[in-house]
Amino acid sequence: MKLYIVSFGCQMNKLDTSLVEAEFTKSGFELTEDQTEADVILMNTCSVREHAEQRVLSRLGYAKHLKRSGRKVVVGVIGCMAQRLGNSLLEREEVDVVCGPGQIPELKKMVIEKLEGSKGGVINVSPQIRKSPSVKNSAMLDEFELENSPNLTEHKNKAFVRVMRGCNNFCSYCIVPFVRGPEVSRSPDKILNQIRRLAESGVKQVTLLGQTVNSYRHTENGNEYRLHNLLEKTAEIDGIEWISFVTNYPYMDYTTPLFKAVAEIDKVCPYLHLPAQSGSEKVLKAMNRKYTPQDYIRLIDEAREHVPEIAVAGDFIVGFPGESEEDFRETEKLVERIRYKNIFAFKYSPRPGTSTEKRLEDNVPDKIKRERNIKLLALQESISSEDNKKFEGRKMRVFVEGRSSKGHLNNADNEKSPQLIGRTAGDYIVVFNGQEELTGKFADIIIEKTSALTLFGKVSDGQE
Ligand code: 5AD
Ligand code: SF4
Repeated sequence: MKLYIVSFGCQMNKLDTSLVEAEFTKSGFELTEDQTEADVILMNTCSVREHAEQRVLSRLGYAKHLKRSGRKVVVGVIGCMAQRLGNSLLEREEVDVVCGPGQIPELKKMVIEKLEGSKGGVINVSPQIRKSPSVKNSAMLDEFELENSPNLTEHKNKAFVRVMRGCNNFCSYCIVPFVRGPEVSRSPDKILNQIRRLAESGVKQVTLLGQTVNSYRHTENGNEYRLHNLLEKTAEIDGIEWISFVTNYPYMDYTTPLFKAVAEIDKVCPYLHLPAQSGSEKVLKAMNRKYTPQDYIRLIDEAREHVPEIAVAGDFIVGFPGESEEDFRETEKLVERIRYKNIFAFKYSPRPGTSTEKRLEDNVPDKIKRERNIKLLALQESISSEDNKKFEGRKMRVFVEGRSSKGHLNNADNEKSPQLIGRTAGDYIVVFNGQEELTGKFADIIIEKTSALTLFGKVSDGQE
């Protein structure tokens, strides 16, 4: 039996996809990258912007064509779109299985039922997603995660570990709280056991994942654990050398202990992904974000007091309803002030059922959204190319991810010493020639040249 699985969206989805791959391969499925030979096609979907959903719908169109041309294949939609659209997806002739993110442990059973010829579609999504998930459901998800996570192989020796699910923030544009449910923090014991197992299987770098990972909070035996406690405990695990955490919300409380942890625990990477979304106080308010641009700046300044070279990444939404030229100018000013390592910029996309979609007209024309998006990214690019120059001549440690997919350097890609790609602890991308056996290991690279997105260098021979 062959499984083809494609993943859209965030790190959470990629993690779920790897867990599903691990579980299916354990039961004898083989993974394929060719849809036309698959017995099962699964799409792990994202609902955060309309564009992501459209891509899935066009993929489903292709699956329909495959089926109509006589291919016997079970087609499943999993993830956020499955939770959001539920039965209406099942009504499509090509869709056999619909499974929400909270029901993933039951996916294999559902698919096998269909492969064995059961009639009609199968659906399993959370009926009342905003109600706290049952203890049984959480336990099932924990177990599923623990059982399947050592097999993650997207990057050798690097793993993602979910520390919490869901989100309680209700930013007014965001669909996540409606499809992923309320915040639930996993027990530190379970998380640490999972990381211990990963370390035993060779994992050296872990990224702790949560929609708002800095709101992690779990009480066990009367002790409250927050993210910094988890970072401390993770750092005690032999074999784990780098620890990162994504993504964060600019909460104004609980900053000092976290920044202190980044400063004081060697293994914790100096990297902070902290979405600002806008630099305009008015827009932030309309977004139901609970901080002002000044609060945000204060937060980054504090982070930099603790960890001067911390690499800061951010997300922005442009063209939010009512965003004026002046508001956008405020966003540009914030980007200039913060000097991010990199940013992600998105055009506002109305999501059905969110409070912005219900209350505010999507009144910034697409052309302007596009212009602002391009302008913001260009501004960041000029900042990054300037700031990256400081790395020239420096020796930087990278975790090697493998062969680089495209040629970046002038030096030829050759078999003995192909172009490899690695990332520093601050998440800077480094391209260099080296032996492929370095994949999954650390290497010291002397940086020779830099651009806005990439640092280029050579493997240090230890003399420098
Ligand atoms: N439209 C555009 N971008 C969005 N994001 C979340 N919801 C929307 C939306 N409705 C962006 C935010 C978030 C990132 C994951 O996606 O910037 O940080
Ligand atoms: Fe969405 Fe806001 Fe939660 Fe992030 S913090 S997942 S943007 S609601």
